[in-house]
Amino acid sequence: MLDVVAINGSPRAERSQTAQVLAPFIAGMTEAGAGVELLYASRLKVKECTCGTMHCWYGKPGECCVRDDMQSLYPRLAGADLLVLATPVYVPLPGGMQNILNRLCPLMDPRLETREGRTRARFREHVRIRRLALVATGGWWEKENMGTVVRIAEELAADVSVAFAGAVLRPHAYLMWSEGELTAEGRTVHEAVRQAGRDLVRTGSMAPENLAAIARPLITQEALLQQYNAMRDAVADR
Ligand SMILES: Cc1cc2nc3c(=O)[nH]c(=O)nc-3n(C[C@H](O)[C@H](O)[C@H](O)COP(=O)(O)O)c2cc1C
Repeated sequence: MLDVVAINGSPRAERSQTAQVLAPFIAGMTEAGAGVELLYASRLKVKECTCGTMHCWYGKPGECCVRDDMQSLYPRLAGADLLVLATPVYVPLPGGMQNILNRLCPLMDPRLETREGRTRARFREHVRIRRLALVATGGWWEKENMGTVVRIAEELAADVSVAFAGAVLRPHAYLMWSEGELTAEGRTVHEAVRQAGRDLVRTGSMAPENLAAIARPLITQEALLQQYNAMRDAVADR
């Protein structure tokens, strides 16, 4: 069985748009036979890297000198085959998610090598993770504004020498909902996300046309700007 650890980085945890997109993704992965552990960054006490000296590389290899929930997270991460990072775009990441990513250093083997002109490491031998996938939600219209978050996930995968399995992107995610219910389009997106989860477990990748369907516009760019600016004006007029 493929073991997956999924981390939801939204401070809004279960109530988040990210959770609403991650849920069908996890359902699809589970249907395809994966075992999925879901963690919420906001429920974990994970401090920033306060040592800043690469102690986990050149002091006590593999040991983080910051003591918090990361200590129990390290073995769970090391035992996963696939890591799913799920996050809202916060220009670029919410702090809790960023802290977890920074604190992955102890799982990395500091033997560096050059690949395609870039300095890269690998996960340590006991770390099973072979793939990393991203689920991201944003408020703005275009999926391109999620590019920095995609880049972070791609860079992280390359830094630890695992495959980047792709990004499930849902811009203006809140428009999948109306009066607390999924819209017809929202249901279609959910089904496509579920399919992406199944595909990822069965084939190790996700079909580009399905990812494009998940990210497709639910409104025109102009109409979305009008919605945001109407909210802005309503507050300004108070
Ligand atoms: C601090 C902050 C910064 C944000 N920056 C962006 C942004 O640059 N681009 C974007 O599309 N959405 C941005 N958003 C909107 C959120 O990404 C969007 O509402 C997201 O779906 C919220 O997800 P959540 O409910 O999972 O937290 C920002 C929200 C916050 C709170």
